[in-house]
Amino acid sequence: MTILNKVISGEKKSPPPIWLMRQAGRYLPEYRQVRSEAGSFLNLCYSPKLASKVTLQPIDRFDFDAAIIFADILLIIENLGFKLDFNEKKGPVIKNCLINGKLDIKYLEVNKSSLISIGETISLTRGKLEKNKSLIGFCGGPWTVSTYIINGGTTNSYKNCIQWAHNNYEYFMEIINLLVEVSSEYLIMQVQAGADIIKIFDTWSGVLNKKDFNDWVIEPTYQIVKNVKEKFPDVKIIGFPKNAGYFYEDYIRGTCVDAVAIDPDIDMLYCQNTLQKMSVIQGNVSPEILRTGGSAMKNDIIKTLDAFSDYSFIMGLGHGVLKDTPVDHVSQFVDIVRKYERR
Ligand code: CP3
Repeated sequence: MTILNKVISGEKKSPPPIWLMRQAGRYLPEYRQVRSEAGSFLNLCYSPKLASKVTLQPIDRFDFDAAIIFADILLIIENLGFKLDFNEKKGPVIKNCLINGKLDIKYLEVNKSSLISIGETISLTRGKLEKNKSLIGFCGGPWTVSTYIINGGTTNSYKNCIQWAHNNYEYFMEIINLLVEVSSEYLIMQVQAGADIIKIFDTWSGVLNKKDFNDWVIEPTYQIVKNVKEKFPDVKIIGFPKNAGYFYEDYIRGTCVDAVAIDPDIDMLYCQNTLQKMSVIQGNVSPEILRTGGSAMKNDIIKTLDAFSDYSFIMGLGHGVLKDTPVDHVSQFVDIVRKYERR
């Protein structure tokens, strides 16, 4: 079993295992090199050789305990007939998004071909990765992925999206259910190809009220977890309902995930006293602090380790590494964690 798998199964490790969201990315010069060779972000995602190469770059440089497969949560929407593009400035752009257009059920025809190459990336990477390191596969939470299908990109206001969902409830639930189905199949394929941990990213779950959070985040995630575990009972699943606040408890109870990743905004004492007693947690130094570095970063890392080391814990960030993060800060982060001794 890998170190990360042992910790998610409840073993305590001191110092804890480390990996970071977006550990492969633009802050690394070797990533920028391969990215420019690939020509576009999507070409990179769909090229198993290059995607595997960038997946392993942060492991070679920082010796993290896990690699996360290089892809994106939005690739799956191409399987439902949506046209995905990544713009240097705006990020993801979906031209045939639903908010401006007519509802057209023909978009919801499933075509699985575009994700086959991700399986190849996974087997290539597993072959090269040390046996004690985990390979993390992932998908987006159906709610978060649906916001991109509806809005056509990232927005500052999810009110429009929530309203659209309520105004077109049946169609919206059809999208959610379809995303549950294709995401489950996608994750099962990833485990078959060699992923030993799965993470479900629900980045925009923090904008929902309790009922919508239950119906659009918890219930669909529970279905995905159930589908994957029916095939692979031993695979470990990490959930990330970012900014869910006090709903983290409902999420842990309702989804049956094995671990939860927590964001930097959540109250630390609440996590320690409540969430850590319910689940293994992964957290949660802020990406801004990593970018700042120096004593601010050091203090935050120590504070996090002091708070969470009584239980099995995975060390990481509360969200992804920012693109202007100095590479040295990441080396220092790993160094501080690996030298940590419980006071
Ligand atoms: O190292 C890893 O974490 C694995 C690869 C990975 C990427 N995206 C690569 C990526 C993972 C796990 C994701 C998840 C993802 N993608 C999420 C959920 C996690 C989160 O960050 O909240 C979301 C919401 C997306 C959608 C997405 N992809 C956006 C909004 C953007 C643009 C903003 C940005 O950060 O650039 C992307 C692009 C993207 N995904 C990049 C990378 C490395 C940058 C693209 C580039 O190199 O040009």
